[in-house]
Amino acid sequence: MIRVDLRSDTVSHPSPEMRKAMYEAELGDDVYGDDPTTNALEERAAEMLGKEAAVIVSSGTQSNLVALLAQAGRGDTALVGTTSHILNAEAGGASALGGIVLMPIQTGERGAMDPGVISAAAAPRDHHKAPVGVLCVENTQNMAGGTALSREEIKVMADAGRQHGLRVHMDGARLFNAAVALETPAAELAADADSVGFCLSKGLACPIGSVLCGDADFIEEARRWRKMLGGAMRQVGVVAAAGVVALDSMIDRMADDHANARKLASAIAEMPGIDIDLSNVETNIVRFGVPAHRGNEIQSRLKDEGVLINGGDSDLRFVPHYGIDSEDIDIAINAMDKVMAEIGG
Ligand SMILES: Cc1ncc(COP(=O)(O)O)c(C=O)c1O
Repeated sequence: MIRVDLRSDTVSHPSPEMRKAMYEAELGDDVYGDDPTTNALEERAAEMLGKEAAVIVSSGTQSNLVALLAQAGRGDTALVGTTSHILNAEAGGASALGGIVLMPIQTGERGAMDPGVISAAAAPRDHHKAPVGVLCVENTQNMAGGTALSREEIKVMADAGRQHGLRVHMDGARLFNAAVALETPAAELAADADSVGFCLSKGLACPIGSVLCGDADFIEEARRWRKMLGGAMRQVGVVAAAGVVALDSMIDRMADDHANARKLASAIAEMPGIDIDLSNVETNIVRFGVPAHRGNEIQSRLKDEGVLINGGDSDLRFVPHYGIDSEDIDIAINAMDKVMAEIGG
């Protein structure tokens, strides 16, 4: 029997309050722009992110795709981090559907890109090169272990892009985790981005959806691309209702997920065969190395102990989320202790 599911924060279920709000949501047809609950969510999200307007989309992937399609044309380049979700885990959508060249920029330990490298990639304009239109930054950085980039770290990257006329898109799938960890308003972290998307269905624990924010013209254009992708939804207020509740009740709570992640990380750091940099455990993601080619076996043995975890051949990750408490973390630690003792260093 599965007792603790730590594969991702995406496995979290909506709270009773969210389910009630979804049931009771006042609805219209959002394609006609008259779904009041969706309009309320979009207004609230735009205000919290310090932008003029917002649009609900089906997922984080669709948010990034719409943002890129709306800001880069066919044959343009988007600069993306080597460890970015856009480059590694979104099925190459921007290239396949938008003809956009994704140019990887090396990310450092915490997932940030060197401004000098951004600058060199963006300039000079040259007829041999695809023109560079957009710079993408991710916060928090999933593949770097959920690191939260500060306003200053983002600003140096954004400035390097802006110098060459690039627009800046922020994949803020877990931006509120960064805001909580850094004790900085999300609007401040998003201030240097022209567009920013955040996910409702990760740490915010909603069942579906993301919200993309930016200036009014950009959001108008984003609505056109969302329509083209088949992503314009009708009585989407049932989804938005959970989002409104989440923005009220799920943000401060993320500090618990971060504390649970730290507790888990500190415990497994003591176990044989675990390679983890505790200084990178800043939010709700715990990434760590295990002995080469033993990752799948560890996952399967943990599953036998009732604990689900995500990862690959030699890297694994735990992601605490809404619904996981300190006792669940103890169960995961005990299971890890048993499995790692069997596997050995
Ligand atoms: C940083 C980041 N961006 C985007 C996404 C995509 O979100 P979705 O799964 O909702 O498409 C994820 C999903 O884990 C993510 O971690």
